[in-house]
Amino acid sequence: KDHRISKIASAIRVIPDFPKPGILFQDITTLLLDTKAFKDTIDLFVERYKDKDISVVAGIEARGFIFGPPIALAIGAKFVPIRKPNKLPGEVISEEYLLEYGTDKMEMHVGAVQAGERALIIDDLIATGGTLCAAIKLLERVGVDVVECACVIEMPELKGRDRLGDKPLFVLKEDMESLQGAF
Ligand code: PRP
Ligand code: MG
Repeated sequence: KDHRISKIASAIRVIPDFPKPGILFQDITTLLLDTKAFKDTIDLFVERYKDKDISVVAGIEARGFIFGPPIALAIGAKFVPIRKPNKLPGEVISEEYLLEYGTDKMEMHVGAVQAGERALIIDDLIATGGTLCAAIKLLERVGVDVVECACVIEMPELKGRDRLGDKPLFVLKEDMESLQGAF
């Protein structure tokens, strides 16, 4: 395993009982304060994706907007935001996904990507995998090839990876202790 990863993992702050009792919140804002660990995080993704012929980095609101753009710039890809409903001003396609209670939606601008493009999807964290699943569907509906999904943190016990089917998922930090959840 890369020596940079343990430093990245320890720069992520874990806050118990946020936003509600029993949840161990994975706070990446402390990683952003550590200039070396933040740069290493971006570099690890860039090293993995720079020669993969990726033309689109799709970042998921909100925390995928922090990691996606520097990766996109470094690998020479465009950045496409995948947003919560009613935020994007142009024509959108949307995809519903299940939450613990109820549903939510992710949206993407029509025309931001073209059929046949190769995309990388970035978010900070995978918990149940519902968010990434919706993002994959949005891109595939318009004919984009989703090469891989990448996150800084995975909560393996929530088995989000299984929901992605055979779509590859790359993560820097597996969080083993957090038996309760993610957000
Ligand atoms: C969190 C996290 C992921 C998502 C993962 O975002 O940043 O995007 O949940 O959950 P899932 O794998 O169970 O779908 P959240 O919607 O809480 O908000 P934010 O990123 O806008 O802060
Ligand atoms: Mg999020």
